[in-house]
Amino acid sequence: MSGEPEIKFEDGDSYEKWMGVWSQLIGNQFLEWLSPESGKVWVDIGCGNGTFSEQIYNAHSPSEIQGIDPSPEQIDFALKRVADERVAFQLGDAMNLPFESDRFDYATMALVLFFVPDPTAGVAEMIRVTKPGGGISAYVWDVMEGGAPMANILNQFRILDIDHPYPPSSDVSRMERLEETWLQAGLRDIETKQILVQRTYENFADYWNLTSRSANVNPVLNLLSPDMTARIKKMTHDSLEVGHDESVTINAFANAVKGSV
Ligand SMILES: C[S@@+](CC[C@H](N)C(=O)[O-])C[C@H]1O[C@@H](n2cnc3c(N)ncnc32)[C@H](O)[C@@H]1O
Repeated sequence: MSGEPEIKFEDGDSYEKWMGVWSQLIGNQFLEWLSPESGKVWVDIGCGNGTFSEQIYNAHSPSEIQGIDPSPEQIDFALKRVADERVAFQLGDAMNLPFESDRFDYATMALVLFFVPDPTAGVAEMIRVTKPGGGISAYVWDVMEGGAPMANILNQFRILDIDHPYPPSSDVSRMERLEETWLQAGLRDIETKQILVQRTYENFADYWNLTSRSANVNPVLNLLSPDMTARIKKMTHDSLEVGHDESVTINAFANAVKGSV
């Protein structure tokens, strides 16, 4: 294998298929747990292609949502997603938010904190832009314990000793680290929750075609021979339970944390 595979988010439309559906399934549970008030001002940090912003918009009648993400392709998709002047998307980085202090009621990161190079700096920025009493929350796939939706394929890479990329701050996905990060940031009323979610694919081909596009799977497969890819596909198939109706159900889990300023 030559070159180092990297996790990149360069296609909002493809993202919608391999992750956006998962984001919505888990985002609903996360929002229910947050039980936010209506009519509030939100910042969705690492908004990606806008999938979670759209859920906030549909379920919680915000007075404003500002989404930021460093990926131009994700932001392009997000801009087409919700046509309402109360919802805006722009390029930006979690560690240097383009907003004045005390601007928001709620700051949130959905499946993002483990991509932020310095999670402590990212949380400090969330706190800076949030009003006293406001809510600071995040959830991340439990990538260290096999909670990500593409974990079955990643397991085969591991068995075959094939290098594959992790989010740069994967350690923060552990529940204890998440809670510690919120505690050390001085947040109050901290609560954590593990969220379980299932997605059923029509058949194995459907699962493979969508999941092998993931940002941490596709760049690895692109560096392998067709024979090796076929081997990984077969190993993945054999590791999954396929239903009588050919369907494949995948279980994933994430760790969530919330607190107030
Ligand atoms: C798994 S996606 C989550 C997108 C969306 N929040 C969702 O729930 O589907 C991770 C996102 O984090 C963004 N990201 C990576 N590094 C970031 C950073 N330093 N600051 C803000 N966002 C970042 C990526 O561009 C990507 O869109």
